[in-house]
Amino acid sequence: MTESALANLRVLLGVSGGIAAYKAAELTRRLRDAGADVRVVLTENAARFVTPLTFQALSGQAVRTSLWDEAAEAAMGHIELARWAQRIVIAPASADVIARLAHGRADDLLTTLCLASAAPLAIAPAMNQQMWAHAATQANLDLLRTRGVDVLGPASGSQACGDVGAGRLLEADAIVAELATRHGPKLLDGARVLVSAGPTYEDIDPVRFIGNRSSGRMGFAVAQAAAEQGAQVHLIAGPAHLPTPAGVTRCDVRSAREMHAAIMQQIPQCDIFISAAAVGDYRPGEVAAHKLKKTGATLRLVLTENPDILAEVAAHKTRPGKPDIFLVGFAAETQNLETGARAKLERKKLDLIVANRVGDGAGFDATDNELLLLWPGGKEHLPRADKLALARSLLVRIAGLRAQPAGRRSKR
Ligand code: CTP
Repeated sequence: MTESALANLRVLLGVSGGIAAYKAAELTRRLRDAGADVRVVLTENAARFVTPLTFQALSGQAVRTSLWDEAAEAAMGHIELARWAQRIVIAPASADVIARLAHGRADDLLTTLCLASAAPLAIAPAMNQQMWAHAATQANLDLLRTRGVDVLGPASGSQACGDVGAGRLLEADAIVAELATRHGPKLLDGARVLVSAGPTYEDIDPVRFIGNRSSGRMGFAVAQAAAEQGAQVHLIAGPAHLPTPAGVTRCDVRSAREMHAAIMQQIPQCDIFISAAAVGDYRPGEVAAHKLKKTGATLRLVLTENPDILAEVAAHKTRPGKPDIFLVGFAAETQNLETGARAKLERKKLDLIVANRVGDGAGFDATDNELLLLWPGGKEHLPRADKLALARSLLVRIAGLRAQPAGRRSKR
């Protein structure tokens, strides 16, 4: 993941209106430091926060703010600019620009360029935490993600408006590093990666089930990050209301046993198995054919143990004439994170385990997390970040460990 991956890359940096617009000045510098050729377009609202002159000085190029600038159109017209770009990055991307992009609007220079260009688009959102959490913003982002738009960040923390929460623009260095990942060498080119994600639901009767709080976000992010690294990705998803990441093949299941069957069917064709699903350990011994009625007495459910999918795959990881399957498990723990996770790593004979603390609002439902990666003889702490950023770092670590013989894996 070197920043020289951006050398000579023609980056169109779009800056939309918001207080974080001033941080785009730093980003312009960082992109140029990384060797990119940068041209900046400001929306009219962005130009109320920062002046075009700032960006002209930093990029060494004329800055555009309007579709209706005759002199600029006579020099490099907007269609030429759209063709010139090899990558479009909008930072900060306001809630408004995200909404306009999601709906294919072309009502200013920046959105017109996005429609007129074939270049991949990345957006780094920045807005008030309430606006970020709003269902309309999240629906617009889901739509953009299904079209292959990269959403970088946002970070969490204190905001200019005094609120605290998600919605801060990622730091310039982090944006440059994420872009470099996309343009660097693909670490898993051609590898076949099987990912499980989401919860499982175990039916009690036709209307009730036993489930868990997993949203599937981490597993879906892992699938996306693996696809970005050039892998052929097959995602087995428990009930999760999330869009399928671009380029990923998805199979939906409901119960642990359905997930078990789907995974065992795919295992012979895979090189890496990442078991991010929160598989229910138990299911009701019998599923009632009709809705259970109140009787006034205590209702006792007898639970039967589900197959441990990962342990079963681990028992078959060695295959004659083929390299072992690289196995990655997740450990969600409410206490004794490292010892509990390391015990699972050893017990299930895994190559890597991803430990995360759950409970008290952490982990399952959240959009960000903090992870501890453990492998035989080593570990790495991934500080709090959104799940996609964590998934990308995880995939880099998996690729690195896979490239080393098992006995000589680096310690950190
Ligand atoms: N797992 C699995 N099948 C199960 C249970 C868990 O494949 N029936 C996988 C999960 O996908 C995860 C790992 O095993 O990658 C650890 O899951 P976790 O629930 O934390 O651990 P358990 O093995 O169930 O142990 P415990 O419930 O004692 O914490």
